[in-house]
Amino acid sequence: MTIAAVLTAAGSGSRLGLDLPKAVVPVAGEPLVAHAARSLLAARAADGSAIAQLVVTAPAAHLDAVAALLGDVVEASGADVRLDVVGGGRTRQESVAAGLAELADDVDVVLVHDAARPFAPPGLVARVVDAVRAGHAAVVPGLPVVDTVKRVGAGDATGRPVVETVPRADLVAVQTPQGFDRHVLERAHAVGSGRGAHEATAASDDAALVEAAGVAVWVVPGDERAAKVTTARDLLVAQALTTGATA
Ligand code: CTP
Ligand code: MG
Repeated sequence: MTIAAVLTAAGSGSRLGLDLPKAVVPVAGEPLVAHAARSLLAARAADGSAIAQLVVTAPAAHLDAVAALLGDVVEASGADVRLDVVGGGRTRQESVAAGLAELADDVDVVLVHDAARPFAPPGLVARVVDAVRAGHAAVVPGLPVVDTVKRVGAGDATGRPVVETVPRADLVAVQTPQGFDRHVLERAHAVGSGRGAHEATAASDDAALVEAAGVAVWVVPGDERAAKVTTARDLLVAQALTTGATA
């Protein structure tokens, strides 16, 4: 088994609202993308295998800085890892596709992970790899949904009507890293690119493309530590958790 990871870091972080792209915003003295890369490289599958290639999608203006930063992370890991840093696309889906184009020939398992989930622990990464290794062509981590979820219809300026309450026991909130058989993911992206990879209809995760291609997706237990940094509040929570503060 040869494992590669595509680490998406090319977004602008518009909802975070800082001057810097989100992936290079520091927490605990290091950019989010560096934390995420270190966790990926620390993971060991049940058979002892580790990530052999790391492909990072970076904002165009930060390609060299991200390459230098990640070069240091790879070196510090002590592992023999091939590092590629490429420019991203207009959407996450396009960025992942750009990353897939860099995969080495011998890669057969691909993880796709968001720099926006910098503290996904190595154990979670390993759990996803092991499930792919066990024969699931597409694997996502998921956590139970804690809120009551309702489907709503078209409304007006004052609100929207409830159509139904969705049984919560049947729902999971999905995280990354997501793991795939390489060829399944490449095929799903090839089909997905024909449906508008750069528009609002672009998939927000890779598993959705695989589902659309008719391949079964398997859910393994997620981890709260893999929470996504989207807003300023999320960044504050990440800072508090990394310093051990009780905000
Ligand atoms: N991403 C990417 N290329 C894009 C858009 C997003 O590589 N064109 C990456 C982001 O860097 C992030 C992950 O995809 O690690 C998840 O995206 P999101 O959380 O939406 O990050 P941003 O797009 O940067 O944030 P926002 O949507 O608030 O602008
Ligand atoms: Mg985004």
